[in-house]
Amino acid sequence: MSSTTEEAVVPGCQFASDNAVGACPEALRAFVDANVGSQASYGNDRYTTVVADRMRELFAADCDVYFVFNGTAANSLAVSTCCQPYHSVICADVAHLETDECGGPEFFSGGAKLLLASSSHGKLDVSSVEELVTRRSDIHYPKPHVLSITQSTEMGTVYSLAELAELGATAKRLGLRVHMDGARFANAVAALDVPPGEIVRAAKVDVLCFGGAKIGLPIGEAVLFFDRKLAADFAYRCKQAGQLASKMRFLTAPWLGLLAESAWLKHARHGNAMAARLAEGLKKIPGVEILHSTDANAVFASLPDGVHRGLAARGWHYYTFIGPGSARFMCSWATTAAEVEALLRDARAAAG
Ligand SMILES: Cc1ncc(COP(=O)(O)O)c(C=O)c1O
Repeated sequence: MSSTTEEAVVPGCQFASDNAVGACPEALRAFVDANVGSQASYGNDRYTTVVADRMRELFAADCDVYFVFNGTAANSLAVSTCCQPYHSVICADVAHLETDECGGPEFFSGGAKLLLASSSHGKLDVSSVEELVTRRSDIHYPKPHVLSITQSTEMGTVYSLAELAELGATAKRLGLRVHMDGARFANAVAALDVPPGEIVRAAKVDVLCFGGAKIGLPIGEAVLFFDRKLAADFAYRCKQAGQLASKMRFLTAPWLGLLAESAWLKHARHGNAMAARLAEGLKKIPGVEILHSTDANAVFASLPDGVHRGLAARGWHYYTFIGPGSARFMCSWATTAAEVEALLRDARAAAG
């Protein structure tokens, strides 16, 4: 790779991303266990069938389930199934769809346009969604057709069921399909402490991208179609986009480890708890301000320059490019309380 926005990570010294940590033991064991004998390829193996069934049980829904390599592909391909090229997709101005997918949703949908709704702490402003949809109805305006909701949000907040119900009802009243970017869906389930199906039903989600990598898979995301008609040609989209794994069992078997005994939820709860602990500690440091409610596994804070310098000198890694003037500290299944305390010690020392 010639360049990347991800900084090199010093082991044990990172709060940059939940992508930077390794695979959780449950997923890794299931990956190794799947390396026995031969299996049918391209998703016709028994692991893939079983995982899809487990997903249907988990969501208490008769959904269609697919597996792709990453979140950009999941979002882009899921959105493209909901759209014609002349349609528009409403998403938050801070949505990953808009800021970090290199035009993937527009490309894979053959030209659908993203319309950016204003947001507060990462959450869509319902009146802004409504305004974008009703602003015009002439043929020169890309016809609004999809609402994309990120749960948990890019700012580490989590929509309540009531907020999701309002968004879902608005979307359906306005004739929109609902896509959910659930790259950190597990953290939202842990935060709300409700069955996952309640979240998708509250928001009237047609298609959910359920993140696996950030919660402990070595690689991969699931795409769940609650409106199964939308999934009709999805396999072709995956194949054409280079997202159909030939040895699919290695993409799907790790989900078995993650789903067994609710390991995914245990890891999500842990990541959320580490973030809460970090936020509590940071806000006691003079000059530090927590910028968004720490609902899930991310802490956003504004830090004095001296604290940034001190943390950098001690080798800590975190993002400073998401939201103006803010530092993002991301916790994960692998974050330890000792790491949180070490970071806080260094931040306190740097604050003097
Ligand atoms: C909100 C959100 N959606 C989707 C993704 C998935 O992106 P990727 O293509 O890197 O897996 C990410 C990754 O950071 C994300 O934060």
